[in-house]
Amino acid sequence: MSKPIRSKIFGVGYHVPPRVVTNEDLVKTYGIDTSDEWVQQRTGIKQRHFVDAGTTNSDLGVEAAKRALDAAGVKKEEIDFILYATLSQDHEFPGTACFFQAKLGIPGVPAMDVRNQCTGFLYCLSMADALVRTGNYKRILVIGSEVHSHGLDLTTRGRDVAVLFGDGAGAAVVGPAADGEESGILDVKLHADGNFAKELWIESPGCSFHPTRMTHEMIDDARIYPAMNGKTVFVHAVRRMPEVLGESLKATGKSLQDLDLLVPHQANLRINEAVAKGLGLPESKVFNTIQRFGNTTAATIPIGLSEAVAQGRLKPGMLVGLVAFGSGFTWGSALIRW
Ligand code: UT7
Repeated sequence: MSKPIRSKIFGVGYHVPPRVVTNEDLVKTYGIDTSDEWVQQRTGIKQRHFVDAGTTNSDLGVEAAKRALDAAGVKKEEIDFILYATLSQDHEFPGTACFFQAKLGIPGVPAMDVRNQCTGFLYCLSMADALVRTGNYKRILVIGSEVHSHGLDLTTRGRDVAVLFGDGAGAAVVGPAADGEESGILDVKLHADGNFAKELWIESPGCSFHPTRMTHEMIDDARIYPAMNGKTVFVHAVRRMPEVLGESLKATGKSLQDLDLLVPHQANLRINEAVAKGLGLPESKVFNTIQRFGNTTAATIPIGLSEAVAQGRLKPGMLVGLVAFGSGFTWGSALIRW
């Protein structure tokens, strides 16, 4: 009997647009009634990156994918599936994966959007892992990419949400591990609870409205922008992330002490500090990037992995945990032998 296939990450990469927007810029350039002190104290964010006019979500995705392909030593022609996580799509339809595929220049390859917000990258990773284990796919591109800056209410009215988010993309190449190879994706756990769907959402445009998806009143009333019950999201994030990481540890027979690094979703530095404290994990084992990039939603985890590799914090043989929580509510975790 042949051995079961195990998937692994061959390489990761990320790209953020060059324009840096500091907390001070939100006050000075956008006229938002906020302060560097408020944003840093509540969230840890110092700055984020915003695209300039003409740069799209799929453009960021292509740059991140090129870097991941380089890191993996894989040619774009070898890619046999594209999984694209985003909530800030280029257009209503078709999915951004199709625009991305055309720009990367690999027509014919299946291209699929996954809409699972902050947990989008982990949902894609789980699917990539399953597709590889069928034996039918050998080189899958997994992308998380967001252009939030065009979808936020960048005025004082929207300040509770607008100060949190940034633009950026991260990517990973996933394929089968060689026979006997140690490294690989050991476990992925996913969850959702739609009872909380409206705690963090964009209401309109939506086909549940009759007779049109969007009206001028909806625009005037800011119902086209993300709305969040921040405290509810915070409380659930702090509970769910340790819980689901525990599920992955239990499933693989590992303990918290075995974990070399945790690369969590980046929604709020305070959330990640509370998660580390709740788990009893030293903060030195938690890799955060929110200070520089803000919350880039589906891109936070592949950006974190790429930076951790670049900084020498994530090395071959290490056990790395990934964990995310966000809109849906959706949440998940992964354990990877790097
Ligand atoms: O990845 C997606 C998942 N998202 C998250 O996980 C986010 C979870 N939630 C959070 O991170 C926090 O709830 C926030 C950072 C969003 C907010 O922090 P908070 O400590 O819960 O603040 P708050 O919403 O209770 O607001 C406190 C005060 C309010 O003023 P009053 O009512 O006390 O006078 C707000 O009006 O801060 C005010 N405020 C601001 N002040 C300056 C809200 N936003 C801002 C702002 N600048 N940007």
